[in-house]
Amino acid sequence: MQKKITIAIDGYAGCGKSTLAKALAKALNYTFIDSGAMYRAVAFYCLENGFISENDEIDSTQLLKQLDQLSINLSPDQKVWLNNQDITEVIRSPKVARVVSKVAAIKAVRTKLVELQRQMSVGGGIVMDGRDIGTVVFPNAELKIFVTASIEVRTQRRLAELKTKGEDIDQEAVQHNLLDRDHQDSTRAESPLKQATDAVVLDTSALSREEQLDWALSRVALLVTD
Ligand code: CDP
Repeated sequence: MQKKITIAIDGYAGCGKSTLAKALAKALNYTFIDSGAMYRAVAFYCLENGFISENDEIDSTQLLKQLDQLSINLSPDQKVWLNNQDITEVIRSPKVARVVSKVAAIKAVRTKLVELQRQMSVGGGIVMDGRDIGTVVFPNAELKIFVTASIEVRTQRRLAELKTKGEDIDQEAVQHNLLDRDHQDSTRAESPLKQATDAVVLDTSALSREEQLDWALSRVALLVTD
């Protein structure tokens, strides 16, 4: 039997990490874990409970009081659950995207979610995507991929995705959110987004989904064949 490895995929907002991670997990029969969905779940909870003011300030005292009681689950059918409520679609909204990086900068939130991510991964055969997977969550992952794409391509892809879902948002707002999150995610004190020194870079700007998957599968093949 082929050995099962851990694959960490990190990179900037909207560069296609989750799409690649999902396809890779399917091709390898591994478990896919979207760590960004977990941060989005906490941001959604803050919005729902009025912990975020009109000017996007977070009442972290309120959040920290309730953090222990939050139950976040990812089911095998890729649905995201918050305290048994299906929040798969609502966490993709521009409203959540606007505040998620602030929530993700809170140390206690990261500690809780990183612990959960490690628990979910016991047994190996994991593809997890996010911002700190190769640097913090799984520093010993056998394969680390750092995904990039031009801001123009990222904006077009995310705009198309949101339009398909019926969101009324323009190109400028989408681009602003991607760049704003990149800035917040790379400059925060806790586990900032950065390329792990042993990561391989994949620029998806000019690659189709199939080409990205083929590239990643060839990387895996180098590691699992003895
Ligand atoms: O899919 P997209 O690139 O828009 O973002 P995401 O993966 O859903 O992540 C949403 C946000 O969660 C990011 O902008 C980060 O602020 C945060 N995040 C994080 O801090 N650490 C992770 N491992 C994953 C996401």
